[in-house]
Amino acid sequence: MVEQILNLRIVGKVNETAETVSFLLADTAGREILYKAGQFLTLIFSRGQREIRRSYSISSPPGNNQVVRITVKRVHNGEVSRLLLDQYHTGDILKATLPAGMFVQDEKVDIARDVFFLAAGSGISPVFSFLTNILHNTTKTSVVLVYQNHTKEDTIFRSDLIRISENFAERFKWYDFVSSPETGMHLSCRLNNEILEALIPAATQYQPADSLFYICGPPSFMRMCQFTVLRMGYEETQIKKEYFVINTPPPAPLIVNPAERVVLLEGLADEITFATMYPKTILESALEQGIALPYSCRGGRCSTCVAKCVRGEVVMSMNDILTKADIKNGLVLTCVGYAVTDIALTYKQG
Ligand SMILES: Cc1cc2nc3c(=O)[nH]c(=O)nc-3n(C[C@H](O)[C@H](O)[C@H](O)COP(=O)(O)OP(=O)(O)OC[C@H]3O[C@@H](n4cnc5c(N)ncnc54)[C@H](O)[C@@H]3O)c2cc1C
Ligand code: FES
Repeated sequence: MVEQILNLRIVGKVNETAETVSFLLADTAGREILYKAGQFLTLIFSRGQREIRRSYSISSPPGNNQVVRITVKRVHNGEVSRLLLDQYHTGDILKATLPAGMFVQDEKVDIARDVFFLAAGSGISPVFSFLTNILHNTTKTSVVLVYQNHTKEDTIFRSDLIRISENFAERFKWYDFVSSPETGMHLSCRLNNEILEALIPAATQYQPADSLFYICGPPSFMRMCQFTVLRMGYEETQIKKEYFVINTPPPAPLIVNPAERVVLLEGLADEITFATMYPKTILESALEQGIALPYSCRGGRCSTCVAKCVRGEVVMSMNDILTKADIKNGLVLTCVGYAVTDIALTYKQG
């Protein structure tokens, strides 16, 4: 089917903080795990008849594709994070989808520009992979990390960031926000819009129009960062976000003429067709008919389900991640997408 599954062996387990553990993963067949900095793996678990999926960003930078790292923070009462931290150990095998996600660098250009990473808590996972990749693979880009945590002790990758600050002193600035510091050593405050509005110009070295912003953290932190950056006059196209917390998607949009539509999956060894009808999403219809399309959050936030609509029309009940250019290029999220006509979809093959 369209979805490809990896079997990953845990080859190492590292405590990062009291609540956060990194897992080092290698393909059981010895294949490389190809990914872009900022992407995530979706782990698949079975509980009786029920399948559970959770995504985890790859926190290691691309380069050593034999072993990748995910970094999981315990969510109290969380089903999967607790299971991983407490019951999965070195030697165990995890099932995962291929790396996916659009929280990545658009072009691999080494231009003199400022790249801002605004992260909080476990939001550092994709950001860490991303920023180390930029620092190692460019020479002109200036990287600014604004990183909010409660305490010094719960700051994931603190010692790595100290080392990176020393090694890349010319091109890396780290604003270390600790909201409950024990000593006066840190910027003892909680990031807010006023602080961010003052910080961004102070940290900017190049043309603001060339700056990029990557935001990952709890929803309220992400909202505050996004509104502040937009209010400062930056364009939406300069901002990318990665959501960890998925809300229930809004109800299906009203489609004037609901009728059964045919979905054709093109570009596979064998073409596949299936029927879909409002108010079922394209993904729901496929899964109900045993067609394994890729997905994770089912809430329009992670982009695992993205496909390209090469014919026909799809409407989405929400979209927080596809850019105008993506949509113009035909990209659709099948988990919140409804076929308005017969459609043909293609999937990027991993
Ligand atoms: C694209 C993507 C990348 C992700 N990358 C990471 C990562 O690198 N590291 C990581 O630890 N998690 C990451 N997550 C979150 C992860 O997928 C799970 O949602 C998280 O581990 C909680 O799952 P659970 O089964 O333990 O909790 P659940 O049983 O699903 O949830 C319990 C409750 O906690 C809330 N909740 C879920 N996630 C969080 C959170 N992060 N913080 C606070 N409350 C939450 C839920 O809304 C729910 O109310 C990512 C999510 C996405 C969509
Ligand atoms: S499955 Fe996450 S956006 Fe569709």
